[in-house]
Amino acid sequence: MGLDLRVGVLTCSDTRAAGDAEDTAGKELMRLCEERGWLVAAYHVCPDDAERIHDLLVEMSDSHHVDVILTCGGTGFGPRDVTPEATERVIEKRTPGVAEAIRLESLKITGRAMLSRGTAGIRDSTLIINLPGSRKAASESFGFVADQLEHAVEMMAGGGHS
Ligand code: MTE
Repeated sequence: MGLDLRVGVLTCSDTRAAGDAEDTAGKELMRLCEERGWLVAAYHVCPDDAERIHDLLVEMSDSHHVDVILTCGGTGFGPRDVTPEATERVIEKRTPGVAEAIRLESLKITGRAMLSRGTAGIRDSTLIINLPGSRKAASESFGFVADQLEHAVEMMAGGGHS
């Protein structure tokens, strides 16, 4: 039986925050979560600004009490790409296997997957996962970890292995 996960989606993109481009990636992530029966409890689009990203991650984790936060965008090599750095400031435990799985599987699709610096980790009982920013890259990456998220949330709540 599935767990009713509470999810937060945070799109980090200057152009999407300015309204110059539609947030197709964030919307697709929300659709994929809802398709699994999960509740999208928070959704934000913010510029590639480390302080804004930091504050929204803290708000979604500490006030909205989401189980999982999916960020998309800002993981590349560009001068404005700061999502992993903002994420590393808020997490208390690193979960490298999540980012490793995303890159390992993504590299089978495109060598450019090595250009995503996305990280993942736990703040209190919220798992934060960085995904790359295009609709294609975000949805592919989500697909590589989604099946493990319910068990991850059970473990964060102190549950045992089944
Ligand atoms: N991962 C998957 N699965 N599929 C993709 O098409 N694109 C890559 C990479 N990861 C890609 C991917 C590219 S082209 C870039 S530049 C990086 O993600 C970083 O993306 P971001 O800066 O939008 O976060």
